[in-house]
Amino acid sequence: MSIIKAGVIGYPVSHSLSPKLHGYWLKHYQIAGTYEPIEIAPDELQSRIHQLIAQGYAGFNVTLPHKEAMLSLVDDISDIASRIGAINTVKILPDGTLYGTNSDAYGFMQHLKQSVGDLSLYKDKAVVLGAGGAARAICAALQDEGWKQIFLINRTKDKAEQIAQDLGAPIIVVDWAVRDEALQGAGLLVNTTSLGMQGKEPLSISLQQLPLSALVYDIVYRPLMTELLKQAQLRGNTIITGLGMLLHQAVMGFEMWFGTTPTPDKALEQWMITQAL
Ligand code: ATR
Repeated sequence: MSIIKAGVIGYPVSHSLSPKLHGYWLKHYQIAGTYEPIEIAPDELQSRIHQLIAQGYAGFNVTLPHKEAMLSLVDDISDIASRIGAINTVKILPDGTLYGTNSDAYGFMQHLKQSVGDLSLYKDKAVVLGAGGAARAICAALQDEGWKQIFLINRTKDKAEQIAQDLGAPIIVVDWAVRDEALQGAGLLVNTTSLGMQGKEPLSISLQQLPLSALVYDIVYRPLMTELLKQAQLRGNTIITGLGMLLHQAVMGFEMWFGTTPTPDKALEQWMITQAL
């Protein structure tokens, strides 16, 4: 039986945790496959992808800075990837054509559901901090799951306005300066900014007006317990750490390339913590 080849393309790519994650599942499910980090400079993207097709790859994940550039290189794209405006998972079909999708919205929502079960209690209002690629995916996920209001707050307001324009209702853009007040009545707070990450400034926010029943989700996973999460936990909010989104977003690609649906369970999360964080 031939070995199924997949990988992650990026520049740089050595920081990616995806090879460890897919390597764990390949071993666990005893699949004859490989998943390698593949460094590709932006000006070589198209030619290197043709090489991967010629080498018989089943597909690949896409990380920075290629997620948007991939949009013009695929032959077919999923609705969710075109709404988000970025591709993070590609399948190479037997005829050599490319199908691109984005599993970040799915990964976020699956992790949220796995963490809390019934989400109906939290669906009146969400507050999303940040307006990068992750915020776009999370807003789309909240929209699809029927959140009634999504308050989107970013230092650079134009970027939030752009997301609101692209994705539509129920996204409401609010000034970064009034983020503390915007927490009033929220059922969910999500940090998608890089604030709080190792080596970056902490996220400066007062949770005083956030209901104690609200969920607090930080997509930053280095460190796993950010200052935001510590603060939230201390006052009694349910907290959700960021590594789970990474694990859940990987399911879609693994399933497409290797034909088995992997389970991102707590044991894997614990293993990832010991391996990579
Ligand atoms: P990704 O695509 O992974 O979401 P990104 O595009 O680099 O990452 O986005 C990082 C987010 O962190 C942005 O929303 C950024 O705000 P700006 O759009 O104003 O740059 C936010 N961010 C980074 N440093 C910040 C800071 N010091 N204060 C407030 N927001 C910050």
